[in-house]
Amino acid sequence: MTAIKGILLAGGTGSRLYPLTSVVTKQMLPVYDKPLLYYPLATLMLAGIREILVISTPEDQPNYQRLLGDGGQLGLSLSYAVQTQPNGIAEALLIGQSFLAGNRVMLILGDNIFFGHGLQPILHAARENTDGATIFAYWVPDPQRFGVVDLDEDGNPTAISEKPENPRSHYAVTGLYFYDHRACEIAAGLKPSARGELEITDINRRYLELGDLSVHRLQRGFAWLDAGTPDALLDAANYVATLERRQGLKIGCIEEIAWRAGWINAGDLERLAAPIKHVDYGRYLLSLLAE
Ligand code: DAU
Repeated sequence: MTAIKGILLAGGTGSRLYPLTSVVTKQMLPVYDKPLLYYPLATLMLAGIREILVISTPEDQPNYQRLLGDGGQLGLSLSYAVQTQPNGIAEALLIGQSFLAGNRVMLILGDNIFFGHGLQPILHAARENTDGATIFAYWVPDPQRFGVVDLDEDGNPTAISEKPENPRSHYAVTGLYFYDHRACEIAAGLKPSARGELEITDINRRYLELGDLSVHRLQRGFAWLDAGTPDALLDAANYVATLERRQGLKIGCIEEIAWRAGWINAGDLERLAAPIKHVDYGRYLLSLLAE
């Protein structure tokens, strides 16, 4: 059986967030108490994925390396690659081809935040599906801003399109994709779309044509946030702040996830907390050890 590896795509221009992103990349912007990138990284970790390729622009790559290093401090193995131009999300599968080396992949966009009760079992079920692709659909009021999937009465996909002018469904396709070993080969056969990008929606459509696309609908009670505009970024921060303050728990806390998974031990967690023990984040990590 093939293994599964992770790709975190954190390139792009972030132009919808200018001037916020004129010198700082979008995925490094704060979402309340941590950089945006922590949330999708946490989602990969919750799926149990430890071997991860971070793809970014050439300018931003050194900062990601400063932030996350080789991942060893979290029990991960992180490697880095660059995307020289924002040629489309599907290009991540070409850039990551040698990293994947024929294995399956969980691809997540660096600006997508997932949160909800029961997320972990859903992710584990998707990673157990060794054949085909699994994507996640989320009901939104404004589907024309997203990839959109049409579903039949049984919830099976019938069509998929990228930012349709007249969407026939309210189900947006989220920026989280599980693919079997064929994804790189499918990506290699893609042509750029009218907007000049290698579209992830075209990969999903190919799996649909092959009869190998599963769509999991994220139910009410799940939050899916993409921090692509100033409003979305603010909403995400407010959402995280409200939940964290109310529950006394952190969302997207990569150190906690690594420790709970047993990838690092109590001493490791204490070492991560030590330099920041005077701020809330560090105190939170130390409080976990007192549980
Ligand atoms: O968030 C979900 C949506 O993401 C999906 O519903 C759409 O099907 C998918 O195309 C994408 O739509 P967006 O309009 O949000 O894509 P955007 O160009 O904003 O890129 C999403 C993230 O991926 C962003 O953080 C930057 C990164 N990216 C994007 C492109 C095109 C890259 O790293 N490289 C790229 O070439």
